[in-house]
Amino acid sequence: MDTRTDVDTGEPRGTGGPSYLSGFGNEHVSEAVPGALPVGRNSPQQAPLGLYAEQISGTAFTQPRSVNRRTWVYRITPSAKHPPFRRIGDGLLRTAPFTDVPPDPNRLRWDPVALPDTPTDFVDGLVTIGGNGDALAHAGIGIHWYRATTSMTDRYFVNADGEFLIVPQLGELLLHTELGRLLVAPGEIAVVPRGIRYRVEVPGSAARGYICENYGAPFTLPERGPIGANGLANERDFLAPVAAFEEGSRDVQVVQKFGGGLWAADYGHSPLDVVAWHGDHTPYKYDLARFMTIGTISFDHPDPSIFTVLTSPTDSPGLANADFVIFPPRWLVGENTFRPPWYHRNIMSEFMGLVRGVYDAKADGFLPGGASLHNSFTSHGPDADTYARASTADLVPQKLDDTLAFMFESRWVIRLTEHAAASPTLQADYDSVWDGLRPHFART
Ligand SMILES: [Fe+2]
Repeated sequence: MDTRTDVDTGEPRGTGGPSYLSGFGNEHVSEAVPGALPVGRNSPQQAPLGLYAEQISGTAFTQPRSVNRRTWVYRITPSAKHPPFRRIGDGLLRTAPFTDVPPDPNRLRWDPVALPDTPTDFVDGLVTIGGNGDALAHAGIGIHWYRATTSMTDRYFVNADGEFLIVPQLGELLLHTELGRLLVAPGEIAVVPRGIRYRVEVPGSAARGYICENYGAPFTLPERGPIGANGLANERDFLAPVAAFEEGSRDVQVVQKFGGGLWAADYGHSPLDVVAWHGDHTPYKYDLARFMTIGTISFDHPDPSIFTVLTSPTDSPGLANADFVIFPPRWLVGENTFRPPWYHRNIMSEFMGLVRGVYDAKADGFLPGGASLHNSFTSHGPDADTYARASTADLVPQKLDDTLAFMFESRWVIRLTEHAAASPTLQADYDSVWDGLRPHFART
């Protein structure tokens, strides 16, 4: 069986970089050693090559096919073989419910988070900004920065509380997961579902970015409605790994996030010992440059939901636990239109980050690696400088280029951690960006 189903990833062939399987939510099949997958059944009396069969269920067995996710893995050692987990320190990682800081109606903005001074891996470098819901109830999100200057080599991570949507802002990450490897760079995203073990390699000198920890229903693609059968994020551009495994005896640590706390256990082997797998509960990556952006070709502009890449739905149709929304390079052509985002108050709560460039609603102060939070019904919109420019601009077609902002938007109010609320990077004068807005009203 040929499992090296390469797709055009833009990477030179033959360089040893990861290969991928394409398609969102597909029932993928992959084996790192030919013959490792059983044929026609999931759990034969003896799995091929002396492997153990194991099912990882990302949804309840009985959920409808359209949302059901599970993967069968064929591994050297069953994951059940491990010693007890013990509590370890959480660092600056926190989990919902967030109750330490009262909900804040103010507009909030942070400077970029600093890289650590001492060698720090992906897990130790997590810094929680805030979130909502309750991880144990599988509702809401946690919002984190990650910062890493060293690779995890003998250390692995697994999260029972939610899936990680990882948005790199600085440096690449090479994710070694139970199902194979994903290389992600700024401009791309990766999603690692609940319960999938992985370690994070930092190929360069440092890496930094944002994480939406989704406690709710797994991220999926939004419905397109009248847009039709194509556009926005197209299914074929999502890439899952091909099987790759680590074998042999050695002492490693597996860190598990469970119920908001970090727990660790010492294993005598790598937990990434899956030789073959099939299923749809998989990590995946996506190049945000593949997003087919839709906007007005007449006047006004659509609500920013038109920029939704992924959504975590709730039982209420159209009311998201979390939406992942991007503001990518695009043309602005609206006639007689105020082209930046309009002033607004929104029942949804909006956390924003910036991967690169300048966001078109703010002239300055919103920096790559920084963040802003506009909670439910918080008044916000373009700063005074942007209003002055955009309200008098010559409305020729304009290309917004070299820019990539994003939003984690949620139905629930986002509450801060004590660290984020007291951080010296929290800008004390954010409100002043609107100070220059003057009344222009005239009766005649
Ligand atoms: Fe907004």
